[in-house]
Amino acid sequence: MELKRLSICLAFFVLAYISHCSEARHSLVRRDANDDIFDEPLQNDEGIDDEAQNDGEGNEEEEDAVVAKIVTQPASYNVTIGRTVRLECKVSPADDVVVQWRRNDTNYFIGTRKPSDQDLSTYGVGDRYSIAANSTDLLIRDLRPSDSGVYTCEVLQMDPVKIQHTLAILESPRIVKFTATDNGQLLEGSDLLLTCDVTGSPPPQIVWSRDEDNINKRLQEEDATFVGNTVSIKNVRRSHSGRYYCYVFNGVGTNQAEVNVVVRGKPRVHISRTVVNSAVGVEAILECAVHDDAASHIRWYKDGQRIEDSSRAYTISTSGQRSNLTVLPLRDEDFGTFTCEAENEQGSHNRSIDLVQSPVLDNLQVDGPKISLTIHSHQPLETIELQLKELDGNAEWKTLNVPVPQSSNPHEYQVDYSLENDLGNGGKYEVTVKVKNEKSWSAHTNPAIVEYEARPQPIQHASVYRGSAHTHTPAQYFLATALMYLLVRM
Ligand SMILES: *[C@@H]1O[C@H](CO)[C@@H](O)[C@H](O)[C@H]1NC(C)=O
Ligand SMILES: *[C@@H]1O[C@H](CO)[C@@H](O)[C@H](O)[C@H]1NC(C)=O
Ligand SMILES: *[C@@H]1O[C@H](CO)[C@@H](O)[C@H](O)[C@H]1NC(C)=O
Ligand SMILES: *[C@@H]1O[C@H](CO)[C@@H](O)[C@H](O)[C@H]1NC(C)=O
Ligand SMILES: *[C@@H]1O[C@H](CO)[C@@H](O)[C@H](O)[C@H]1NC(C)=O
Repeated sequence: MELKRLSICLAFFVLAYISHCSEARHSLVRRDANDDIFDEPLQNDEGIDDEAQNDGEGNEEEEDAVVAKIVTQPASYNVTIGRTVRLECKVSPADDVVVQWRRNDTNYFIGTRKPSDQDLSTYGVGDRYSIAANSTDLLIRDLRPSDSGVYTCEVLQMDPVKIQHTLAILESPRIVKFTATDNGQLLEGSDLLLTCDVTGSPPPQIVWSRDEDNINKRLQEEDATFVGNTVSIKNVRRSHSGRYYCYVFNGVGTNQAEVNVVVRGKPRVHISRTVVNSAVGVEAILECAVHDDAASHIRWYKDGQRIEDSSRAYTISTSGQRSNLTVLPLRDEDFGTFTCEAENEQGSHNRSIDLVQSPVLDNLQVDGPKISLTIHSHQPLETIELQLKELDGNAEWKTLNVPVPQSSNPHEYQVDYSLENDLGNGGKYEVTVKVKNEKSWSAHTNPAIVEYEARPQPIQHASVYRGSAHTHTPAQYFLATALMYLLVRM
């Protein structure tokens, strides 16, 4: 019962709605037709001419005049630039109809079944527009982007009828220009702006990318700012150097262009060993490497004094971005600080190497209670001193003497020492090492942290396990816990 009443109500609703809509549509159509007549003087003129003609032919004909209809359905034409398009407007019956073509409500082409009469160029559209022979279709040759728009075909008669076609001109994207700031030659810290000027219809979309380690990667929002057909990267670094791409597409076609960007900056000097041990009469090679895109000039200094290439006391061997300084110290004063400096147009950078007679300590490493390190010394070693301090509380430094190891290499020693017996109950310790050779003490190594847990006795472990195994197995315990949990939840 209820359902029936509901559906009856619904039916009423739908009926009311439909009648309302069709009323609205009627008024809309009427208003459209009126607008057309009042807005367009030329159509009016033609309309008047037409009517005048009709009048001349007499009223009797008009009464039983056949009303022409447009058979063609509205369509959208998507046509490639340069081609010819035929916009169809088939009229039935086709005899003696006068058809008017309009574009965007601004231009007028009058067409009849006798096309010879019309000179379309008088309407300012040139001779690319014509009415196809023996038809009322509009032909447009050699299409241009400006030809796109809405075309209306209207049959001029007492009750005008019309259809509208949409014409879109398609053009494959073309990159007119792809440029980078200063032709892509930038200094570190400046801003890079890439501009990709592109044409095409529909307007093409742009994808920006660059080659990173030979992989093409899309530029992301977080490292660049995208505005229209430009992308900008602020405060560029050397790592921004590379090949950038502008890729464009619009569904009709694609295109791509690329530009090279080189970011130059100060050179960077790298030294692998900052302290080198040698002895009087022992030649030392000091090595320096420069990282730079352009070749920079490399110079060496001893205690701030420039070492001339012609200097006899030293040999400088430079090859590309690397340079070796060979030193043969003959007296104590020949040791000291040597500086490698690289310079290019953007500036200079230097790093220093200390050439010393004291031991040089390397690679202090910790593995549980074991420590290891390498000692370089051309002079015989005398003492290896290890200092350790518990980290918690205000413990005192404790000094241990580590035995000097034997070495097959006369100037390199490998020390491996276990602190197991020195750490007592274990804990967290700070450890540092210094070494004395015949000549002098080395510097302390940077402190390392030794964390050591005294291992519990294996026998105790076993007895504890056995004892508990008799009372509760882990599975039983688990079950009990789970039951308890469920009970509490309920
Ligand atoms: C032309 O393009 C429009 C919009 O892009 C689309 O809706 C329409 O289907 C296309 N027509 C043809 C004939 O491809
Ligand atoms: C157009 O019609 C005329 C006569 O009605 C005919 O001679 C001519 O061949 C037709 N032209 C085309 C292109 O159909
Ligand atoms: C017609 O209108 C379309 C879009 O509405 C526009 O793209 C086109 O440029 C216009 N053409 C003329 C000749 O005004
Ligand atoms: C090395 O660079 C520092 C500044 O970075 C400068 O003060 C010093 O003079 C330079 N040393 C040499 C030897 O060029
Ligand atoms: C510097 O010395 C190292 C080791 O002796 C050697 O391998 C390298 O080729 C030398 N480099 C130059 C530029 O002489």
